[in-house]
Amino acid sequence: MSKPVSLNVADQKLDLTVKYGTIGPSVVDIAKLYAQTGMFTYDPGFTSTASCESKITYIDGDEGVLLYRGYPIDQLAEHGDFLETCYLLLYGELPTPAQRTDFNYRVTRHTMVHEQMMRFFQGFRRDAHPMSVMVASVGALSAFYHDSTDIADENQRMIASMRMIAKFPTLAAMAYKYSIGQPFVYPQNDLDYTSNFLRMCFAVPCEEYKVNPVLSRALDRIFILHADHEQNASTSTVRLAGSSGANPFACIAAGVACLWGPAHGGANEAALKMLQEIGTVDKIPHYIARAKDKNDPFRLMGFGHRVYKNYDPRAKIMQKTTHEVLNELGIKDDPLLDVAMELERIALSDSYFIEKKLYPNIDFYSGITLKAMGFPTSMFTALFALARTVGWIAQWKEMIEDPGQKIGRPRQLYTGAPQRDYIPTHMR
Ligand code: ACO
Repeated sequence: MSKPVSLNVADQKLDLTVKYGTIGPSVVDIAKLYAQTGMFTYDPGFTSTASCESKITYIDGDEGVLLYRGYPIDQLAEHGDFLETCYLLLYGELPTPAQRTDFNYRVTRHTMVHEQMMRFFQGFRRDAHPMSVMVASVGALSAFYHDSTDIADENQRMIASMRMIAKFPTLAAMAYKYSIGQPFVYPQNDLDYTSNFLRMCFAVPCEEYKVNPVLSRALDRIFILHADHEQNASTSTVRLAGSSGANPFACIAAGVACLWGPAHGGANEAALKMLQEIGTVDKIPHYIARAKDKNDPFRLMGFGHRVYKNYDPRAKIMQKTTHEVLNELGIKDDPLLDVAMELERIALSDSYFIEKKLYPNIDFYSGITLKAMGFPTSMFTALFALARTVGWIAQWKEMIEDPGQKIGRPRQLYTGAPQRDYIPTHMR
């Protein structure tokens, strides 16, 4: 138990309530601070601020721990599957066999998208980035499914959630097919979630497509690893958008937009590009030197994390999955993997990275794996978004169902001009 916290402001002593979680740091409740002192707190980047109370995901960045509803990520990745993880994140418990069958059925029957969406897709340029297509098409779901946009109706919330989990793979596969000029492949509902997605991406009407179970299992595991990650930038974006009462499709589209950035979900694409740019093991010292140079904006992509100051537990599983996939595909010598492993070895023994606690994050190995599976670099972040959709929905649902929920509205430290009078144009 930590001691009560008091704060001295001028002559005033304020006793602040401390709230305790199940595990992890407790929080100081400052909700009444402004009313009592006329002051805000200042925490750019929210490095010390808990924005909400949540029961979904727990991270201990120092120990490299990630739990979904209390279950360690490695156990879920090894023994579970993605749809079971979706159920767990949404409902808080692992499903019984009957719940599992029912949930899989409910998701599966929503995999098709409104036929009119094919026309919507035709409006995009063929060279559009898949993430731009995803931002637009997920947002557009609210135009196609306005019978599930009433957030006050529990049933509509549930249907919207099922629709997004089910339709995201279809939309992502459509974005890919569109970019390479191939016909869209309709979902096939007797396949499991991930096999269905692989088929929608890689099947063509003129040939039989057989799903490789090793690749399907590997991709399913990648989806599990990406399913949720507590109050990261995109999840906080979804919560903030949802706090105004915006419909769930619009909120998830906001999350997709935020995820796109290279400091967040876009890092997997950036990490692979960096490995390609480095190219050979002998060039690594040059790039390590650049990463350490304060005057050079270059950073080792796929290294470092706001929360993990230890090896990202997802990166360990990802590394194993990379080897499994390359082995299955008979890729014995992948120069990118050689560069990645050597880069990791050097960085982990370099004092700069050790002192700053910069370890490989999940994005470091995911790009090599997805590339080997046949996905172009531009699809990497779309795959991340596909998997994270359930986390966004679970967090959004938790917020909407909280009776104390209010609109998110951060304050600021204003450093602009004080009040001044308007000067007519001719007098300036
Ligand atoms: N390469 C070199 N130096 C780095 C790196 C890196 N990848 N990451 C952080 N540093 C250095 C910073 O320059 C800074 O040094 P300083 O203290 O001397 O100024 C120090 O480490 C702390 O870095 P911050 O940027 O302050 O840490 P923050 O927590 O804000 O950033 C972030 C975390 C954005 C992930 C950062 O490590 C980064 O840009 N990494 C590369 C991009 C990446 O891989 N992102 C994926 C994140 S995981 C995900 O979203 C799924």
